[in-house]
Amino acid sequence: MKPTMLAVHQARRPDGMPVAEDFAFVSSPLPVPEPGTALVENLYLSVDPYMRENMDAVWQLGSPLEGRSLGRVVDSRTPSLPEGTIVQHRQGWRTHAVVRPDDARILPPHTGVPLTAWLGILGGTGLSAYVALTKIAKVRPGETVFISAAAGGVGSAAGQMARLRGAGKVIGSTGSAAKAARLTQLGFDTAFDYHAGPVRDQLAQAAPDGIDVCIDNVGGEHLEAAIASLREYGRIAWCGAIAQYNSTEPPPAPRNLFDIVEKSITLEGFLVRNHRDSRHELEDFLIPHLQEGRVLSQETVIDGFDHVVSAFTGMLRGENSGKMLVRLTSD
Ligand SMILES: NC(=O)c1ccc[n+]([C@@H]2O[C@H](COP(=O)([O-])OP(=O)(O)OC[C@H]3O[C@@H](n4cnc5c(N)ncnc54)[C@H](OP(=O)(O)O)[C@@H]3O)[C@@H](O)[C@H]2O)c1
Repeated sequence: MKPTMLAVHQARRPDGMPVAEDFAFVSSPLPVPEPGTALVENLYLSVDPYMRENMDAVWQLGSPLEGRSLGRVVDSRTPSLPEGTIVQHRQGWRTHAVVRPDDARILPPHTGVPLTAWLGILGGTGLSAYVALTKIAKVRPGETVFISAAAGGVGSAAGQMARLRGAGKVIGSTGSAAKAARLTQLGFDTAFDYHAGPVRDQLAQAAPDGIDVCIDNVGGEHLEAAIASLREYGRIAWCGAIAQYNSTEPPPAPRNLFDIVEKSITLEGFLVRNHRDSRHELEDFLIPHLQEGRVLSQETVIDGFDHVVSAFTGMLRGENSGKMLVRLTSD
């Protein structure tokens, strides 16, 4: 029997939360790399919220899906990618990929840094948190910072980095009391379950004197609550709006937008892809902290390529703590 690879295709556009029938697992012969390329066996796949948005229009039906991935070179036709090398690339949602040297990054080995961190706190997830804190909101020592979706990949990275940069108080919101409790073990001063009552009230209780900065990953009610709690000259780094990605209704807008004027608040959105030049700055800052154990690479790892779709939808439902990843092999 010829060796095969598996890839996930999008079979149809989802209506609200994606379901298994929106995806198809497609088998094909294992590709043979052309000169100048290499065959990579994927080890870890990243599943991310932006993929849900791509499913509505960007991704073509019937084609392999894309996403960040870590893999090992198993067959090489280029000296730039020797066999055995561990690389990061963007051909996720599949067991194997043929990559060119320009499309793959050979990961630098750092003692004490787990491989998976390159898809999480040292990858686009951590970079989003770093950019939000340092380039957009410009958090200063002593300030009170509120982070929504705080137990997720971006949120848990942002909370730990805010602490390292001297934030006075770090507050998080998340989807359960258990996840909120884990956040306080991670260095958040306090965290609340947004199902337990209006976000506005719970945030006001957590920060009776107001907040200086919000890193918002959720939008809607969370954004409105942040605007209500922000002090004069407060800043919002708007990173995401997970509350609306699966919604079939028009996105809820904050009803208190004019408070932005009255309190001279800055609200700035950003896309991490426009800040790739900060990647080495993030690595220089974070790697020593990871090595010394002052920062933890928070991850939920689901085993087996068969589970990539359920890992993705599970992440959208909040089944993850930290970055949601899929492990393809046991080594
Ligand atoms: N601007 C950029 O360039 C950029 C880059 C990366 C990520 N992002 C955004 O950052 C956010 C977090 O991304 P991530 O990769 O770190 O994902 P994540 O936070 O690890 O996973 C998504 C989390 O969202 C929470 N959630 C789901 N539905 C929700 C709802 N209706 N209300 C509140 N929370 C909800 C869930 O946790 P709970 O249990 O807490 O509900 C879930 O764990 C997303 O909005 C994403 O689009 C933006």
